[in-house]
Amino acid sequence: VLMAETGHFAMLWQKMAEKLALEVEFLPGDWRRGADPDAIEKRLRADSEKRLKAVCVVHNETSTGVTSRIPELRKAIDAAKHPALFMVDTISSLASIDYRHDEWGVDVTVAGSQKGLMLPPGLSFNCISPGALQATKNARLPRSYWAWDEMIANGKSGYFPYTPATNLLYGLREALKMLLEEEGLDAVFARHQRHAEATRRAVRGWGLEVFALDPREYSASLTGVLMPAGHDADRARKVILEAFDLSLGTGLTKLGGKMFRIGHLGDFNDLMLMGTLAGVEMGLGLAGVPVKKEGVQAAMAYLAESRAQPKRAAA
Ligand SMILES: Cc1ncc(COP(=O)(O)O)c(C=O)c1O
Repeated sequence: VLMAETGHFAMLWQKMAEKLALEVEFLPGDWRRGADPDAIEKRLRADSEKRLKAVCVVHNETSTGVTSRIPELRKAIDAAKHPALFMVDTISSLASIDYRHDEWGVDVTVAGSQKGLMLPPGLSFNCISPGALQATKNARLPRSYWAWDEMIANGKSGYFPYTPATNLLYGLREALKMLLEEEGLDAVFARHQRHAEATRRAVRGWGLEVFALDPREYSASLTGVLMPAGHDADRARKVILEAFDLSLGTGLTKLGGKMFRIGHLGDFNDLMLMGTLAGVEMGLGLAGVPVKKEGVQAAMAYLAESRAQPKRAAA
């Protein structure tokens, strides 16, 4: 298995795969960029014996706010003429950032209920290509709960091979109604992009750095913020939590203390974002972090100028 090192969650996949006795090759990354199509193509070209069975990528790295370019990665696998299955974690992108399992040629997509679907944790979803379904027929890895054949056979008649989380399924029905009928997916994606842009303007207004380096890979569901040297992000997070009851994401593993994360996914609107950014601006000040008091202003100006004017009723 070739796993692109994009951050903490890629690392967790690597560890889990190793516990399952899979042989994992970690394609190194600096956590500030997404999976590199050129590096993947190069590695796959070098695998003349076709020993690599899968290329695994986290679409949106929740630990950094970096979104990998899935269509370009697919092209890289195709360019190398390699048969490896393409597997993508969309846990913090599905229903927040555009994602197309079929059109982008992904073989296995994994998603969860706890982020853009606005539900408690507890449901997970797999989307499987015909190629992946075929591969599972000969796969020797032991499996039970997630054995696709049992899921598919039971699913045909509306059943589940185990006790289903019925309450979450009712919640899912409501979440899908909100996303698909009440707002529409395109509007949901645009809302998250707009909030992400406002957040980045706030970060720059404070004189701080957005963690993601490549604008093509800016995440629409969360923004990582690099702390100035000599200031502990977790201390600032604690001050902000205690002063304003606002919980920011911590820097995970090697990023501990060095950055924090502002989430802007799910059921979120302009004023919720402004409250969040005001809390961060005030809190960084209280924590003694030298920031300019221009972030909230910049975000607010952008939200106002980019808000579509309501259509006037015809006279
Ligand atoms: C991108 C990504 N992958 C994997 C996970 C792990 O999900 P779980 O904790 O449900 O196993 C998370 C959780 O936040 C995530 O954001």
